[in-house]
Amino acid sequence: MDIIEAIKTRKSIRKFTNEDVSIDKILDIINISANSPSGGNSQNWFCLIIKNRDILKKIRSETELVYKKVIGKETPAVYTFFTDAPIVLAIVEKPYVGSIDAILEKTDKERNYIRKFIVNPGLQGVSSFITHILLVAHSEGLGACWMTGPLVAKQEIEKILEIDKPDNLVALIPMGNKIERQSKTARKDISEIIKIIK
Ligand SMILES: Cc1cc2nc3c(=O)[nH]c(=O)nc-3n(C[C@H](O)[C@H](O)[C@H](O)COP(=O)(O)O)c2cc1C
Repeated sequence: MDIIEAIKTRKSIRKFTNEDVSIDKILDIINISANSPSGGNSQNWFCLIIKNRDILKKIRSETELVYKKVIGKETPAVYTFFTDAPIVLAIVEKPYVGSIDAILEKTDKERNYIRKFIVNPGLQGVSSFITHILLVAHSEGLGACWMTGPLVAKQEIEKILEIDKPDNLVALIPMGNKIERQSKTARKDISEIIKIIK
């Protein structure tokens, strides 16, 4: 599958067959995706490959508990279906301190804050890595979904997965052989997402 085809046909997949996926295939997908760009080539990403059903169930029940507590309703399936996938990746952002940040930290606290937390090059790099993972998985015939919904229970999930500060859990990606979704989500017209500055 060429890159244009992969981009055009990828969809978030939320239903998976029971078939297992080999660790080798997952490692291959991660290895290829690590060609992603990152600020200062920091490659500030880390990936937990979760196969353990008990851990996944624990993550789900913590998500449901926290959701109920803070939102006051049952958790929608779009935040919990990851337990149905044979494999779930937990994507961790490692700290990234660019050369500018190191200087700004001393010279201009406000600009340091804006660059670190609003521009957030560290998170942008990890987001690019995640995008690569979704596209590579798709081109390898696997379905996947980028998920931040369960991170309503971010602190609790980090505890279960033993992710300690300054590492930062940013997403879960359930992955497996897909039960194909028929429809593709609509996209805005290009006129709504561009402005040409002549
Ligand atoms: C940052 C981010 C967080 C997302 N979190 C969730 C989620 O928690 N649950 C879910 O079912 N989909 C989640 N999605 C998937 C989006 O709903 C999906 O990408 C969007 O509706 C477009 O559909 P498509 O991926 O099939 O093109 C997330 C996507 C992104 C980029």
